[in-house]
Amino acid sequence: MANNSNLGAAKAAKNDEFYTQYADIQKEVNAYLEYNPDTFRNKTVLLPCDDPEWSNFTRFFAQNFERLGLRRLISTSYAVESKKYKNYQPTLFEMENPLFDIDKTRIKGKIFELTRDTNGNGRIDIDDLEWHYLEGDGDFRSKEVCQLRDEADIIVTNPPFSLFREFISWILEAEKQFLILGNFNAVHYKEVFPLIQQNKIWIGNKSFGGGMDMIMPKDIFDPSKVKKYYTDERGNIIQNIMGVIWFTNIEHGRRHEFLKLMSKKDNIRFGNNKTLKERGYVHYDNFDAIDVPAIECIPSDHDGILGVPDAFLGKYCPEQFEIIGLGAGDLAKEIGITKNYRGRTDLSYTDPVSGKSACPYSRILIRKKQ
Ligand SMILES: C[S@@+](CC[C@H](N)C(=O)[O-])C[C@H]1O[C@@H](n2cnc3c(N)ncnc32)[C@H](O)[C@@H]1O
Repeated sequence: MANNSNLGAAKAAKNDEFYTQYADIQKEVNAYLEYNPDTFRNKTVLLPCDDPEWSNFTRFFAQNFERLGLRRLISTSYAVESKKYKNYQPTLFEMENPLFDIDKTRIKGKIFELTRDTNGNGRIDIDDLEWHYLEGDGDFRSKEVCQLRDEADIIVTNPPFSLFREFISWILEAEKQFLILGNFNAVHYKEVFPLIQQNKIWIGNKSFGGGMDMIMPKDIFDPSKVKKYYTDERGNIIQNIMGVIWFTNIEHGRRHEFLKLMSKKDNIRFGNNKTLKERGYVHYDNFDAIDVPAIECIPSDHDGILGVPDAFLGKYCPEQFEIIGLGAGDLAKEIGITKNYRGRTDLSYTDPVSGKSACPYSRILIRKKQ
């Protein structure tokens, strides 16, 4: 458990220091392979912001190097002295290696590479990883990691969430394919939403809800602050982190599945949504669109604009719908949403039952393709 002196650091690091389970990486990657078995074939995959000695990203891609048909796997780590949270012990793997350097280990990043069968056992796998210290601390923005990015075809990681905007711009400026974790709030970022709208990036295969069970570093973890957690068979502390989703620009099948829709009348009559049953489809007061309280209520017989909850993005099929814009903030202003009864650029409607004005929670505006 964290002692008092490192609690502050632990809090600051909380958003950046949680780790991904092997099964979650495997499940997600398999969805891309199902769509296209050659997704990773002959590709160089870079795993930046990783901790390759024990990261499940490195473990997964190294163990599946041959199955995926990779050309090269590169994984880099960030020096402990540069991290927000500095409680660190070098691993036995590092200490037992002739390259181990007590000074470098705290201030330098590391690079792990897999390209060939180094031990002559006829396979390329995790035992063939070769490593050395980087020149710098392994910051993804450093010149040497940028160079590795430029050499890569696909970038996969769980980046520090505090630097998510910067991280995704870093990938996109190099025009790389990617599969990364992030918080779903990022869909609202002005750097991210327009790209989703233009179908340049999208949500991964994993469903939007439920968050993700992540591995928490033991030193940072404070059980008194967490309602639910468990310890897995390896002794890792696992906590569910709400809102964690995959962002990608790699094709997967779920993204091309059409949502099955019913007419407005049938949704009200046979659907289970209480709000819809009570008040029907209401038109916004400050924008020409109707409000849809849940994804399952999206009607088949409305050709105009629909305001739907964010979770829609987890079901979005670009052949079925186009994304018109966001329901609140600067991006809403751009599509002509005017100030509501609270003086904010945010969708609002008059509830037909109570006669009162109301704002739905966080809407994305979409339209059915003809
Ligand atoms: C959320 S953790 C995920 C680690 C790993 N990818 C995983 O899920 O197993 C993000 C990692 O990025 C590191 N990090 C923070 N800032 C960084 C930066 N500027 N450049 C590279 N790595 C950074 C953090 O120290 C942390 O180890």
